[in-house]
Amino acid sequence: MIRTLIWLLIWALATQGLIDYRDYHDEFLPRFLSLENASDDNLLLPFNTTRTPGSKESLEIQKLIKNFYDGLESPWELEEDSFENKGLNFNNLVYTLGANSSSYVVLSAHYDSKVEPEGFIGATDSAASCAILLYVSRFLDAFYQNGNSSLSDEKNGDVGFKIVFFDGEESLKQWTAEDSLYGSRHLASKWIEQGLIDKIHLFVLLDLLGSNPAPIRSYFRETHEAYERLASLESTLFKSPPQLDPMDHSILQLNGPSIDDDHIPFYRAGVPVLHLIPWPFPSFWHTLQDDFNHLQQNEIDKWAVLLSEFLVEESSGFADRL
Ligand SMILES: *[C@@H]1O[C@H](CO)[C@@H](O)[C@H](O)[C@H]1NC(C)=O
Ligand SMILES: *[C@@H]1O[C@H](CO)[C@@H](O)[C@H](O)[C@H]1NC(C)=O
Ligand SMILES: *[C@@H]1O[C@H](CO)[C@@H](O)[C@H](O)[C@H]1NC(C)=O
Ligand SMILES: *[C@@H]1O[C@H](CO)[C@@H](O)[C@H](O)[C@H]1NC(C)=O
Ligand SMILES: [Zn+2]
Repeated sequence: MIRTLIWLLIWALATQGLIDYRDYHDEFLPRFLSLENASDDNLLLPFNTTRTPGSKESLEIQKLIKNFYDGLESPWELEEDSFENKGLNFNNLVYTLGANSSSYVVLSAHYDSKVEPEGFIGATDSAASCAILLYVSRFLDAFYQNGNSSLSDEKNGDVGFKIVFFDGEESLKQWTAEDSLYGSRHLASKWIEQGLIDKIHLFVLLDLLGSNPAPIRSYFRETHEAYERLASLESTLFKSPPQLDPMDHSILQLNGPSIDDDHIPFYRAGVPVLHLIPWPFPSFWHTLQDDFNHLQQNEIDKWAVLLSEFLVEESSGFADRL
């Protein structure tokens, strides 16, 4: 209890100095995440396409992601985890900032889209989340370039970031344990083999974000404290009604995973998971209506800002919690 109080105090102080890069976001949100401004800088609109595993469109999206990281300043390292399954080529893209760190925060989403119904875009599933991952990466890139903090600084607990774009989250025909989560199952087993899995301090998974602001619940006891920190940041930064509610234990009390998603293979391997997904799902989930007309600018901007600042805080608070 005392430890928690001391920690809360440290965190409150740290927070004051760190949060709220409003000028940065004011400048860059309209360039990178606009639903209207189709400039060359736009990171969201290129995802307005189908992205089924192994398709031409999927390869174009992979190229977009790679070009984006090539344009950043910091030494982001790419790990491509490609493999074949059911005659299709899958490819997870993992970008690491702070190679050789002793601990990592993972921020992830899936970039593939469902094969059926034909023409399915998956704007919330998970196009918007992927664009948010790119935005957050650019924020971290700028943040660590500008001397705010150094990733290799001993004081900071030697924390790095891994940004993961999963392929093959969706089933090809009908959801079963074998027909789903192709990419995350593959990457988790690779990381278990490499011993990397034990270095994942927090695994954040985004899904179905970017449309109507719906409740996002706390799903796991192991990460309820991280959820509380995110909720506190949400109410500090935004006046709109909060989507996170630390008092809502409706799913927490089930005491186990109740939603199948890319976190499952990692959760089973003992990784602490923060799953940012609305419950209930959007009404248009897995229909052709999950298109860019159903995205909301405010909602996309909010998650981009919130997660940018959350990751900076999580990494600086690490040393105290390791
Ligand atoms: C649209 O994006 C361009 C290129 O990034 C930027 O210069 C411009 O300010 C943006 N327009 C608006 C209205 O935000
Ligand atoms: C997304 O693509 C569809 C089909 O090409 C198009 O009608 C729609 O205007 C696009 N949405 C945005 C926001 O660009
Ligand atoms: C990580 O360690 C390897 C091997 O010691 C080294 O070659 C590489 O430069 C290091 N990378 C970073 C970003 O420190
Ligand atoms: C910290 O990062 C922000 C966001 O990139 C940047 O605006 C600022 O100049 C950086 N440097 C300091 C010392 O805060
Ligand atoms: Zn889906």
